[in-house]
This record gives sequence, structure tokens and C-alpha cells, in this order.
Amino acid sequence: MTETKSEWNSRSAFILAMIGSAVGLGNIWRFPNVLYSNGGGSFMIPYIVSIFLLGISFVLVEYAVGFRFKRSLARILFTISKKLEPVAWFVLFVVFLITTYYVCVVGWDLIYVVLSFTKGWGANPDLYFANNVLHATDSVSGIFTIVPNVLVSIFIIWFIAWFINKRELNNGIGKVSQILLPLLCIMVVAIVGFSLTLPGASIGYTQILTPDWSALGNAEVWLAAFGQIVFSLSLGMAIAMTYASYLPKGSRLVDNAVIVAFSNSGFEVFNSIGIFSILGFMTLTSGIPFNELVTEGSGLAFVVFPQVFNTMGPASYIIGPLFFLCILFAGITSVIALLEGVCYSISEKFLISREKTATAVCIVGFCISIIFATGLGSTILGVFDSYLNNFALLLGILLECVIFGWIYKFDNLIETLNENSNIKVGRLWKIVIKYILPICIFFLWIQGVYNDLNFQDPLSITIRVILTVALIIFPIIFTKLPAKNKHYYDV
Ligand code: TRP
Repeated sequence: MTETKSEWNSRSAFILAMIGSAVGLGNIWRFPNVLYSNGGGSFMIPYIVSIFLLGISFVLVEYAVGFRFKRSLARILFTISKKLEPVAWFVLFVVFLITTYYVCVVGWDLIYVVLSFTKGWGANPDLYFANNVLHATDSVSGIFTIVPNVLVSIFIIWFIAWFINKRELNNGIGKVSQILLPLLCIMVVAIVGFSLTLPGASIGYTQILTPDWSALGNAEVWLAAFGQIVFSLSLGMAIAMTYASYLPKGSRLVDNAVIVAFSNSGFEVFNSIGIFSILGFMTLTSGIPFNELVTEGSGLAFVVFPQVFNTMGPASYIIGPLFFLCILFAGITSVIALLEGVCYSISEKFLISREKTATAVCIVGFCISIIFATGLGSTILGVFDSYLNNFALLLGILLECVIFGWIYKFDNLIETLNENSNIKVGRLWKIVIKYILPICIFFLWIQGVYNDLNFQDPLSITIRVILTVALIIFPIIFTKLPAKNKHYYDV
């Protein structure tokens, strides 16, 4: 087999795929909580600063590197310096492991899409989620009991991801993004529009409009804004780099990065108006204080929202399915993006076709995801999530910052970006990437490591040890395995 390089056939395919990769669970269920807990309206200041300082700046690095090299992350780092290849496999392995549990969360959501048509969660959504969906147990023996409905939904999501990723770029990821994202937008507009008509909506959305200026003096608020942007834009996960490497000559990189970053943030801010309004309605009808409702993660989507739909009347039979479909669509476009970078590096090094790589990666991924379909699944998922995001991924991003800012000849990237873009970058960007960004990421990482230490029980420690060993061994193996692609080692 010879190397064939995929290329986007339209600018919109690229931009929508990029927005699809960024808009995910983080935008829908993480952002409202981050916004609420960090000062409401005044949070917009650190948030907007983060979009420019961190978000757009780092996306630009990824675009410039991907576009200049037109190679996969592993090969790019090898080209920069032979010794750096393990860093690439480390990042890719972290991304792959993140995908294994992200698929499970999207799988839970799939179950809720089905339940929402009949409000199948009954009168006690919290008990339903723990007992009927997760079959969660605290005992370690729970790892030996499989939860069939979760297993089936995880399988379906892996199957969908496989089906999209194995296809030619434009027919797979390109086409799916062009269909799902417009649908997602329409659904979110419908939900937000409806939510604003609910009694009590203003209790919710005024929270966004009421700033707490004192929060601005708090370093944690700034870190929360940085963290949200890193998470929500999927920075450092080799996604933007991979997608940009498929761009044809003459693409306007800086302009595209600005569009993607603003669409992603626009989506989460707009969406949170809907979430807050719906929670405001719940406060009015149930008397539960607003601050008790603004949780995040699965608690918000699979417990609080079903409770809201229970009190909502007939409209909930439409809004409920729309809400869970939004999460499903946003999740699927992120899963395929997470997988693409991983598959590209493998297929480029070992000269395996796109289809075969996707098949192998999805099969292995599904096998790992089975752990999350056990009675102990949600507990293990929590540890994976905390360790991989707080510790491993941020470490990877920090390394990428140092590599591209300090080891690689940075001025090359400025030249690549400015060649075709209307908006130009210059010295300021260089200062940001070389100094400000690594410092911010470093503090985020320290905070992340500190948060991760909350999990101190024997099970969490065991999982972390296993993950750490795997994160050392696999990158070494993948680096040492000889490339089948004879051009791989051409620098
Ligand atoms: N940005 C996407 C989201 O908001 C995907 C993503 C980024 C992600 N980082 C992640 C998913 C970490 C899971 C874990 O969901």
C-alpha cells in the first residue's frame, strides 16, 4: 500500500468538523456550572480573555503545525526530534483512553433519548439513574457484573463512530458534520426559545446577567476560565492538527481558527441561557433553590433534567427528546474527532488503510469500554475522567507547548499562518505561546493534579497505577515498533 493523503473538499466541511469536535458534552453540561460557580456575568471577562489568549493562540499552533507538515502528530514530533516521538504516542494514548469513557457517557445519553419519549425514568430520576441505568454498586465485585443496556448502547456508539471514521474523509466525518451540526443548532435554538417562555425563566437567566465583580480578583476564577477553554475547544488532543493537515493549499488558517473558537463559545453561552432558564422554571415550580440545581455532568443531564421534564407537562415530550438528542449529536461529532487523530498516526506509521485502522482501534476501544458497562463502571469512569483530564492530558498539552514554542523553529509557524490569512499574527502571538501559555497551563496542571488527589481510596489508587503504567509502556512500544512506511523516517 502507498500513502494517500486525504483532503477536505470544501471549507465548510473543515469548519463544521472542527466545530463538531469542539462542541461536546463540555459545552452542554460543564459550562453552565462553571459559569455559575465563578461569578456569573463577570465570568465573561476571564472567559473572553481565555478565548484569545489560550484558545485561539493554541488552536493556531495546531493549525500551523498540521498544515505545514501535512503529517500525523507522531510523525511530526519525530521530524522535529527523534526523541520526541514517545510524547506524541503518549498524547494519542491519553486521547484514546478518554474516548473509551466518553463513548460510554454518550451511550448513557442514548438510553435517555429512548426513555425521554415516554419519560421512562419515572417519578424518581435519581434512583432510576443509579439503579436502573447504571446498576451502580460500591463493592469491587461489581466489576464482574455486566449491565446489558449500557453495554448495548456503548456498542451502538462505537459502531456509529467506526462506520463514520472508516469512510473516506469527506464522505464520513465531513458529511456527518455537515448534517449533524446544523441540526444541533436548530434544536438548541428551539430549546432556548421555548425555555425563555417558561414561567420562572428569568430567575435563571438573570444569574448570567448579574455579575459578581469580586470574583475577578480570584485566581481560581481565571483558572476555571482557562480550564473551560482548554476542555471545550479540545485543545492539545491532536484534533485541530489532524484536521488542518487535510486542508488544501491556500486555506485561510487564522480566519478559520477565529470562526471555530467563536462558534464554540457562542454555542455554549447561548445554550447556557436555555439551561439556566429551564432551571429557573424548576426553582419556581418546585421551590428547590437555584444553586442546588446547577450541578454539572451526568447529575445535571440525567437527574436534574428528567426531574424538570417531569414537572413540565406535555411540552416535555418534545423538549426532552430534543435535549438528549443534542447531547447525542454533540457527543458523536466529538468522538469521531477524538478517534481521527489517533487513527491517522497509526495508519501513517504502519501504512494500514483508513478502514482497517478504524476497525482495529474501535474494536480495542470497545473492549476497554466494557469496563464501564459493569456495576462498578461509573465509579471507574470517574477515576479515568479525573486522572486523564486533570493529570495526563494537561501534562501532554504542556509538553506540546514547550515543543512547539521552544524546540521547534517558531518563526516557521508565523510564516505558515500569515501566508494566506486575512488576519495576521506576529510577535504578540509568539510571546503568548512561548511564555504566557506554558505558565497558564502549568498552573492549570498543578491545580489539576491537586484535584485528582481527592480520589484516595484503594480502588482509585489501583486504577491510577494501572493507567500510569499503561501510559508509560504503550508510548514506548508504539515508538519502538518499526514503521512500515518507508518515508516515515525521512526528516
Ligand atoms: N470539547 C469536547 C467536549 O466539550 C470534547 C472534549 C475535550 C473532551 N476534552 C475532553 C471530552 C475531555 C472528554 C474529555 O466535550
